[in-house]
Amino acid sequence: MTENLTQKSTKRIVIFASGGGSNFRAIHSKIEDSIISAEIVLVVSNNPTCGAIEYAKNNGISTIIINSKGYPDKFGYLDAMRSSIRASTADLVVLAGFMKLIPKEIVKEYTNKIINIHPALLPAFGGKGLFGMNVHKAVIESGAKYSGPTVHFVNEEYDKGSIIAQRIVSVFPDDSPEDLAKRVLIEEHKIYPEVVKAICENRIKISKNKTSWIEE
Ligand code: GRF
Repeated sequence: MTENLTQKSTKRIVIFASGGGSNFRAIHSKIEDSIISAEIVLVVSNNPTCGAIEYAKNNGISTIIINSKGYPDKFGYLDAMRSSIRASTADLVVLAGFMKLIPKEIVKEYTNKIINIHPALLPAFGGKGLFGMNVHKAVIESGAKYSGPTVHFVNEEYDKGSIIAQRIVSVFPDDSPEDLAKRVLIEEHKIYPEVVKAICENRIKISKNKTSWIEE
């Protein structure tokens, strides 16, 4: 029997977010428009007052707050996070501005099922400390002429997993980090839903840490 490589069964997505959640909203709106065949079954956050949680609640999406401060040790924290994902029977975990490292036990259990978006062109400008505005400051200070988002699988090291997709934006001489962040974010909102859609249609293949796309 021939395997249908691009079957469009509805995938179950868990979103992790700590901030405004604009990438989460961009993905959700493509699901609402039936462009992505998936359901967001849970939003996990460490921040109960963030925009992502507010949006999820307003849209009837289940939420859970998991903050390491709420647990006596890292095992309790890990257990809470792991059991939430397991209970959701997620096909895909989407990190959308989640400001905490995903415990390595979870990364191992969900190999090639966790993706992240980084607001610069990896492997440059990634790693510990390079998040939020720090990334855009570093890009501007380096004199780089281009930046842009990278979507990658998550492995045990910050920003080091296999790259799935990238987009390019110009860096202009007078850019502030905020200017650059805005220009990159516009591309994030296009590229992240495209990657989620492709994964939901089983169109991203990975071999020896390199990804390739099967066209629609
Ligand atoms: C984005 O810039 C993303 O690249 C980074 O965190 C930011 C999240 O923004 N990982 P939002 O919460 O999706 O608006």
